Amino acid sequence: MGLCAKDLLDMGQLSPEEIELILQTGKEMKTIIKRDIKKVPTLRGKTMVTLFYEPSTRTRTSFELAGKYMSADVVNISTSASSVVKGESIKDTGMTLQMMGMDLVVIRHNMAGAPHLLAKNLKARVINGGDGFHEHPTQALLDMMTIKDKLGGFAGLKVAIIGDILHSRVARSNLSGLIKMGAQVWICGPPTLIPPGLEKLGAKVTYSMEEALRGAQVVMMLRIQLERQKAGMFPTLREYSRIFGLNSQNLKLADKDCLVMHPGPINRGLELSGEVADCSQSLINEQVTNGVSVRMALLYLMLGQKGE
Ligand code: CP
Repeated sequence: MGLCAKDLLDMGQLSPEEIELILQTGKEMKTIIKRDIKKVPTLRGKTMVTLFYEPSTRTRTSFELAGKYMSADVVNISTSASSVVKGESIKDTGMTLQMMGMDLVVIRHNMAGAPHLLAKNLKARVINGGDGFHEHPTQALLDMMTIKDKLGGFAGLKVAIIGDILHSRVARSNLSGLIKMGAQVWICGPPTLIPPGLEKLGAKVTYSMEEALRGAQVVMMLRIQLERQKAGMFPTLREYSRIFGLNSQNLKLADKDCLVMHPGPINRGLELSGEVADCSQSLINEQVTNGVSVRMALLYLMLGQKGE
């Protein structure tokens, strides 16, 4: 069994069976990255490109390593050093790369829908590495792999996603994936940073940290985007941190073994205290490792199957 669509653009396109397949394959891939020699020939002769119009440490590097561990040829394009700065369009850049033999491109762009535009115009496969405030599906998949690894599944879990939901593609992708798999997702943050209509997607919305945290088995903290304060969406960073920050005191409201997650990069001491970021319940480092595993799984399922 493989994935149905040519591209991975958002979590909405994946069936529960496809999500399970990706997570199971990611688990198998994890055994490769734990080996001394991290190399298998699965994608020999395949070429992938990372095309990032926005900064990234985790997503870009983990895709590069995932490709290299499976022997694909990997090309990284930094748009600031490419013909993009001369005004080349996304479509023309994509077509140029395809004509050089590219089989798959991972794109990150500040414009929602940029990966969809590329996917529509290319035969090569496209993975969304984060588009504007829209979606970041591979982050949700690695988060889900991390939860499944620790708790065995999703049905009935209380997952609290806390922070700047309005501008978070991570929140949107996780909400879609977790609800589809049967979790109960609570969304929490200041009213100015929560978009309307999330209840219609199946989320429970609260502005109270106490309500979000009480009995939660998983807490996902989101990075507070510092420029939002300048935009007047909350009064001060100190006040934000006091009301919506996770620390060892309010973490006690959650389930005793509650998993603490954060997609990174973290603002230590703002949305998350350093003590909680480094505590035994924190899975932040494991999320990073699972990021490589889940991206290996996707590359395998999209490029490594017979007939590809
Ligand atoms: N979580 C995440 O997408 O991190 P990067 O921006 O470093 O890729």
